[in-house]
Amino acid sequence: MLRGRDLVALADLSGEEILYLLETAQAMKEVLTRDIKKVPTLRGKTVVNLFFEPSTRTRTSFEIAGKRLSADVVNFSAATSSLTKGETLKDTARNIEAMVVDAVVVRHKASGAVRYLARELDVPVINAGDGSHEHPTQGLLDIFTIKERKGSVEGLKVAIAGDITHSRVARSDIHGLLKLGCQVVVVGPPTMVPPDVERLGVSVSSSVEEVLGEVDVVIMLRIQMERQSSPLFPSLREYSRYFGLNMEKLKDVSRDLLIMHPGPVNWGVELSPEVAYHPRNVILDQVTNGVAVRMAVLYALIGG
Ligand code: CP
Repeated sequence: MLRGRDLVALADLSGEEILYLLETAQAMKEVLTRDIKKVPTLRGKTVVNLFFEPSTRTRTSFEIAGKRLSADVVNFSAATSSLTKGETLKDTARNIEAMVVDAVVVRHKASGAVRYLARELDVPVINAGDGSHEHPTQGLLDIFTIKERKGSVEGLKVAIAGDITHSRVARSDIHGLLKLGCQVVVVGPPTMVPPDVERLGVSVSSSVEEVLGEVDVVIMLRIQMERQSSPLFPSLREYSRYFGLNMEKLKDVSRDLLIMHPGPVNWGVELSPEVAYHPRNVILDQVTNGVAVRMAVLYALIGG
């Protein structure tokens, strides 16, 4: 269904294609429970991780995912590359492609950089997060985790709270969840919510406390300080008070609420440290599922 294509954005996929990737990820998750967590599916294929921005979860899990499928995985280091001598992004990517690789996984700080490379390269390009645009595999692993815990996603109500304007995760989650029949409410200070966000099909609230009682899932976001040119809120303390999650706010909510966060978490800002031990916190499940989802994406694009 997706063989040979790029994965730049969940906005580009149909609901059927998203469900296919989630089903494939379910099969991949079974592989990860075996004593020998490796299958020969991508033997002879080469995947290059081209990360121009820092990452812990995405880069490591793409590497593990490729290796679990027996692909050769190469991690490109921007800091020690010829980018430091002035080589362009396009030349860098085309030279990597000339080494006869099968897929490149790209993270870049500029929104649109991955779509640009996808047009320039013949091999499948997978978006590992571009600026404030999209982070499609994070969106897929978030939806996979919700589906795993809730049985299905259709009809669920999901809150996404925090720095919506600068969050590529928010955008991928919104596109993916809406395509699978969820309702989405975004929550944040007006300075961190795009004025036309309702055009995406979501509703808007300015109080985390207000939405907690009416949603099945809350996805908390990190404040993207690196993408803000000037401060968008008076202080971290004030932000945390109105838009953070703590045990006090959680004390009356449904036992079925899922608490999610893409990571890295600023403990004490968007989540109080005690929430790390809350029974409804599935943040590390998201990380575990990230490997299965990325195996599914690599298989779908370059397998066979
Ligand atoms: N969620 C996420 O993208 O984390 P990393 O920045 O560590 O990859």
